[in-house]
Amino acid sequence: MKNIFIGVLLLIQISVMAQKSQGLVLTPPMGWNSWNKFGCEISEKLIKETADAFVNQGLKEAGYEYIVIDDCWQMSRDKDGKIVADPERFPSGIKALADYIHSKGLKFGIYSCAGRLTCQNRPGSHGYEVLDANTYAGWGVDYLKYDWCNTEGIDPETAYTSMSAALASSGRPIVFSMCEWGFSRPWNWAQNVGHLWRTTVDIQDCWDCRNDWWGVGWVGIMDMQEGLEKYAGPGHWNDPDMLEVGNGKMKYHEYISHFSFWCLLAAPLMAGNDIRTMSDSTKTILLNHDAIAINQDKAGLQGKKVYDDGDFEIYCKPLQNEDLAVIFFNRNNQHFDFPALWEKAGIKGNMKVFDIWKHERIGTTKGIKTVSLDGHSVLFYRLSRKGKV
Ligand code: GLA
Repeated sequence: MKNIFIGVLLLIQISVMAQKSQGLVLTPPMGWNSWNKFGCEISEKLIKETADAFVNQGLKEAGYEYIVIDDCWQMSRDKDGKIVADPERFPSGIKALADYIHSKGLKFGIYSCAGRLTCQNRPGSHGYEVLDANTYAGWGVDYLKYDWCNTEGIDPETAYTSMSAALASSGRPIVFSMCEWGFSRPWNWAQNVGHLWRTTVDIQDCWDCRNDWWGVGWVGIMDMQEGLEKYAGPGHWNDPDMLEVGNGKMKYHEYISHFSFWCLLAAPLMAGNDIRTMSDSTKTILLNHDAIAINQDKAGLQGKKVYDDGDFEIYCKPLQNEDLAVIFFNRNNQHFDFPALWEKAGIKGNMKVFDIWKHERIGTTKGIKTVSLDGHSVLFYRLSRKGKV
């Protein structure tokens, strides 16, 4: 009876969120963004080839949908103030590119900034919100990432609300991805303004480095998500930034750890590598359907840390049907055996354990007494009480 009641409450909550979010991104958005790998080295050729690769490499089938061009596609404004794309890099224009992406059954995203200039000093949208939103809608844009450089003291909630209203009145459903880096704690105000909000500064392709212009490795970014889980849900997500999987500076098992956590955190899964040339090992990670199913679970709950013993930690994400996703995490770079500590993680009774990286059932919580973890590694499990896992 209690379970039926919780189920009904969940359905009501999801349908309320669906109305607020126009039914968009009821599970975390999945796609690709040009920034992490290509920076300003973008072109219509790259974006079209990436769309082709989405289909040929199996990303589309795995659920990746949005192809987003980040900064540097814009060049200037014309005499009427309309934004103009770089004619050398995008000779066919943005509308033709959007049409191409749509012809592949994919969705198309673009980038702008709440400031007068973007982070790479291209024209921003400040003062042009309505014109830009209408231009994007006319081009067939499905997703807007909206940055926070050169904002000269303006108020974030006002600035993001103004673009949000412009998008809403454009007549086209457009996912609104707010990139304010978490400075004003957007999780407190952004739920009804946009669909996702960056919680931190920019991710770097490293374990836990910090660079001098405020870039942070994925472990540092992940640690900054603590306490934010209550703000995420269908149609409104915390965004710990795009994936670095496959960009080459971390080891295979470190990318597995990074991807596992982005799945457990219900983070947007925006690949940030070169999809056209990715290795088989990168594909193994990005296309792991069991991991993606954890990320895309319809309950839309963000996982969190439930046990902390220094280098050894346990994280849990409640799923539909009383299933649970669990990560055992070894922050140390040495191999260790740890006690499995199911009860400390709040896991009672006996549950079946399915290993998400081995793709097989490996036993039950009662039977598994220790976990053996290589350095900088995770064990990523789906736990289930009933049925076949
Ligand atoms: C900021 C954002 C990044 C990227 C760059 C582009 O740093 O946080 O994700 O969009 O700008 O200039």
